[in-house]
Amino acid sequence: MEKLGLNEIRKLFREFYVSKGHYAAPSASLIPKNDKSLLIINSGMAPLKPYFSGQETPPSKRMTTCQKCIRTGDIDNVGLTSRHGTFFEMLGNFSFGDYFKKESLTWGMEFVLDVLKMPIDKIWVTVYKDDDQAYEIWKSLGIPEEHIVRLGKEDNFWEIGLGPCGPDSEMFFDRGPEYGSPDDDFVQGCEHDRYIEFWNHVFTQFSKEEDGTYTDLAHPNIDTGMGLERLACIMQGVDSIFDIDTIRHILDSVSSLCGKAYEDGDEKADVSMRIITDHLRSMVFMIADGIVPSNEGRGYVLRRLIRRAARHGKMLGIDGAFLADLADKVIEVSGDAYPEIVEKQDYIKKIISVEEKQFAATLGQGEAIIGEYLEEMKKAGVTQLSGDKAFKLYDTYGFPLELTEEILAEHEFSADRDGFDTAMAAQKKKSREGRQDTSEVAWEENWTPEDVPETVFTGYDHYEDDATLLFLSGESRDAEQALEGEDVILYLDKTPFYAESGGQVSDKGIMTTEDGEVEIFAVEKTRGVFAHKGRVTRGAINKGDSIHCAIDRIRRNKTARNHTATHLLQQALRDVLGNHVEQAGSLNNDKELRFDFNHYEAMKPEEIARVEEIVNEKICSFLPVTTVETTIDEAQKMGAMALFGEKYGDVVRVVSCGDWSVELCGGTHVSNIGQIGAFKIASESGVASGVRRIVALTGTGILEAAHAAESVIADVAETMKSKPHLIQGKATSLMEDLKAARKELEEFKKEAMGSELDDMISSAKAFGEVNLITREFEDYNIGDLRGLSDDIKARCKSTMMVFATVNGGKVTMLVSLTDDLTEKGLHAGKMIKQIAACVGGGGGGKADMAQAGGKNPAGISDAFKVAEELLS
Ligand code: ALA
Repeated sequence: MEKLGLNEIRKLFREFYVSKGHYAAPSASLIPKNDKSLLIINSGMAPLKPYFSGQETPPSKRMTTCQKCIRTGDIDNVGLTSRHGTFFEMLGNFSFGDYFKKESLTWGMEFVLDVLKMPIDKIWVTVYKDDDQAYEIWKSLGIPEEHIVRLGKEDNFWEIGLGPCGPDSEMFFDRGPEYGSPDDDFVQGCEHDRYIEFWNHVFTQFSKEEDGTYTDLAHPNIDTGMGLERLACIMQGVDSIFDIDTIRHILDSVSSLCGKAYEDGDEKADVSMRIITDHLRSMVFMIADGIVPSNEGRGYVLRRLIRRAARHGKMLGIDGAFLADLADKVIEVSGDAYPEIVEKQDYIKKIISVEEKQFAATLGQGEAIIGEYLEEMKKAGVTQLSGDKAFKLYDTYGFPLELTEEILAEHEFSADRDGFDTAMAAQKKKSREGRQDTSEVAWEENWTPEDVPETVFTGYDHYEDDATLLFLSGESRDAEQALEGEDVILYLDKTPFYAESGGQVSDKGIMTTEDGEVEIFAVEKTRGVFAHKGRVTRGAINKGDSIHCAIDRIRRNKTARNHTATHLLQQALRDVLGNHVEQAGSLNNDKELRFDFNHYEAMKPEEIARVEEIVNEKICSFLPVTTVETTIDEAQKMGAMALFGEKYGDVVRVVSCGDWSVELCGGTHVSNIGQIGAFKIASESGVASGVRRIVALTGTGILEAAHAAESVIADVAETMKSKPHLIQGKATSLMEDLKAARKELEEFKKEAMGSELDDMISSAKAFGEVNLITREFEDYNIGDLRGLSDDIKARCKSTMMVFATVNGGKVTMLVSLTDDLTEKGLHAGKMIKQIAACVGGGGGGKADMAQAGGKNPAGISDAFKVAEELLS
């Protein structure tokens, strides 16, 4: 066998299946679309599920892919062994109701023997125990019967999560007697060093349902999966995935960065190098697909990977942040096959380094705390860290629980997972209670009549149209007639009304029949059927009526301005901030546009200004807006930006503003961007970790905002007894006046206090050697009281002061003693406790000065009496 590089194998596989009539699709994103059963794509077939189940039509009945996959189930073993990785690539060929077993196995053999040139005597296969058909096919392909093994459901039935599944047949490569199994027996069901499983052919016939049952799929399919790294191990004659050309390239740079040779006798260092190497691969691909570190779901998986890798870097003695630079190595070896990681290189590195730096700030402290915990546990003779402590490490020091567990395990300790979950749940509850529930109310009823056909939308080029009222919901779901005052839902054969979708609000407007009129205030669509919600405002309407539909065109046009501006904004953001900017959500209505996008930090004022400037320049260049309907492939060739999380059908609509902004979009737009008039960003803010939000205005929306601002200014001017164009000068002079008045007031206060001081000193009552001054003030603050006491102390000896001041019904008290009295053993801090009790308060302080607060001003005179009693 010829040695083949990993990138070479991927290419050969693709070419082989293209020659067999397969459409070679690019790898799907690691983020599953419309699949709640899966957090991250973990096999070649996962993104293709809708094609297997028949929910969607595939672009071709034969497809081949090399799919990015992540599996974290085995994450603890990554690094410890040389076989496990969280990231891998899966080669696959797929048939959606086209060819079946015979072709799949035959081509599999052809690829293995003719392209990879594996010797046939090295190949072993397994089949599901009752699958005689597969058995016979293998035999006919020249596999000797002693190399064909029948196994049960545990080994030869493939399913993962819900959806398509079925019996399978696996191919193995025999690496020879030097890898064990002295009697040459085929051993299956364990990680065997000698027989390496490399290709699984699944005969997808069933679908696993949520209740655990299996239903037959409409037609049998083929799903195969071959781990590219596994195959590369075989083809390169290496035992470890970390010795494959591309992966070794990354590992070597980890090794040279930390100055330690790999496999040089230091097993711990080897483990760390492998962990960093593997996790780097995962993080680069995850970030490229739009995942950002967070405390939930996929974001949390990413956070764990980055933080675990960062800690292992530290264990290797690497100083400071290093992962972002190493990410270049991943991009070097995988960038040709996955252009997205090259395109987003800067962004990927930025996200990694932000996360790494954030963690670096607490890593050292956290490790020190774990060290202390370990000591405590050793002393106490326990082996499990409490959930509260593990939670504190998570919450305060950013240690994912799994990382804490890993560190504990290194010392043969564990953590209380249940206790951790309890602490986490308690904290979540607390923060939930502190938050207002702001979730929007959905339509109460989500029902669509079964037999109404899809509605034809004519609103791209019509504000008005004539249609037929096919179905009417009023007092009953299927009504014949609705009268004035009734709430109704109308279903038509065609409509110019846009139904809410793609972030654009629905149209409003009026529908009229010969006998009646309906005001429409919302339109929704389900399975292509438009539900027009409204109220009969005149006469009566009848099922079957001809109905004239007219949308509110002013509202539509204002919305169109905002929607087209959103496209311009997205392109301008990519120009200014980088190509990582992707839409994370949007809203376009007749008032404003809201655009959420991925970006790792707040935009700088100059960036905001630049984006606004670019969009306005484009608007003034009067570029035409053109739309075409085409296939997704053609659209991508046109460079169209597809929206994150959006599902596209066979025909997509491409909206272009000149050739500057090209997007897939079903919305309604202006016909020339000059019609937008003007564009203004109203705010830029953060909505979630790594997600920013821009709210902006266009056209007359800006005028409305200007009017609102003008009226505020007019109000302010009136309050200031000035005129709008004079308020700037007026405000400056008012501020100056205010400053002068404050200064004067201070001086006045000081003077007043001075004369009060003489007055107070002369009012002192003698108790033995102690002179007691008691005084109540109004609206003084504690600083004023302290100032007074300092002034008296500067002039008198043997004096005790008890001051009280009332502010808004609350009492503040100060007890102060001159130094000679504290030397004699009097203690203000102790005395104030008894004194302040009378005003219903508590407090304390030092020997020479103490303060207290209370709620009962009526008790002040009693408080003074207590002071006297304490002295007598
Ligand atoms: N879907 C099968 C697997 O992942 C081919 O092994």
